[in-house]
Amino acid sequence: MLRGRIVATGSYVPENVVTNHDLEKIIDTSDEWITERTGIKERRVVNGDQATSDLAFEAASIALKRAHLRPKDIDLIIVATITADMAFPSTACILQDRLGAKNAAAFDINAACSGFIYGLHIANGLIRSGIHTKVLLVGAEVLSKVTDWQDRTTCILFGDGAGAAILEATKEKRGVCSTHISSDGSLGDLIRLPGGGSRNPCSKETILKRLNYIKMKGNETFKVAVRTLEELVTRTLADNSLEPSQLSLLIPHQANIRIIQATAKRLGMPIEKVFVNIDKYGNTSAASVPIALDEAVQTGRIQDGDYILLEAFGGGLTWASSLVRW
Ligand code: UT7
Repeated sequence: MLRGRIVATGSYVPENVVTNHDLEKIIDTSDEWITERTGIKERRVVNGDQATSDLAFEAASIALKRAHLRPKDIDLIIVATITADMAFPSTACILQDRLGAKNAAAFDINAACSGFIYGLHIANGLIRSGIHTKVLLVGAEVLSKVTDWQDRTTCILFGDGAGAAILEATKEKRGVCSTHISSDGSLGDLIRLPGGGSRNPCSKETILKRLNYIKMKGNETFKVAVRTLEELVTRTLADNSLEPSQLSLLIPHQANIRIIQATAKRLGMPIEKVFVNIDKYGNTSAASVPIALDEAVQTGRIQDGDYILLEAFGGGLTWASSLVRW
């Protein structure tokens, strides 16, 4: 049986660091509050002219190099993002051109913070069915440009970055063992960016109402996230007939350290077996899981044969997980 195997990863974050102390100077907040409630100490923010495809290009180039592949070897590019360079062409098509990946089909997907794992679901499905063999999957975001820097309830949370993975078809008993994706559109109001689409097209009025920025009901989102993720990780292990003790690493979406701790507790996993980098980057939405995955690989936290569990929760609402054998 064919399945997708992640043969290489790459990631990129902008150089510019914005610390909690920097934020204390522009809004009514404190390093203590942010650290205690979220686990975030700093985040990366692009300079003015960098867009999502620029970050995606850096992460993808690193992953291609590590996979010893040329861009023209790739037959599909999927970019997960909620901060596309523009409505169209897709960020994936812009990336395809920049890489010179002439033999690839390219499209974007929008599943907010769950986007990378949704992408894994699609990529793995297309590989299993024999339709594609070498897929470049990227999660990339420039959230700083859709963040309301006057809203202390959201602006402390987000950061910019990109992570990439290359999947190849394999007949070995390793790679993506399962993917699980879910949605609940009835709770879409909890996190959204209402302006700039066909409902509220960009106008002087939408700008004045600040509809071009992310709105979030944080506390309600938090409660749904904890409940949903606890159930999701338990189901993912059960579907693979695995015990939590057989997992080498949990790689969660980095939205809030308290959500991460609650999920780990539910699995009975010690925090040493959970990958955490929220302190450095904040919540980078679709980029969060692939950046964490890449850092885990590069720092030797994942070895051949390890079982790792990826999970995420975000706008839509959407949630997703994947069990991967490295
Ligand atoms: O990635 C997609 C999924 N996203 C998430 O899962 C995010 C989920 N939500 C969260 O992470 C948390 O809800 C937040 C970090 C956003 C907020 O933490 P919280 O513990 O839920 O705080 P809260 O919203 O209940 O607010 C508590 C208090 C409020 O003051 P009062 O009403 O108690 O006087 C807020 O006004 O904290 C206040 N507050 C702040 N204080 C200092 C809110 N933001 C700040 C701030 N600095 N930045």
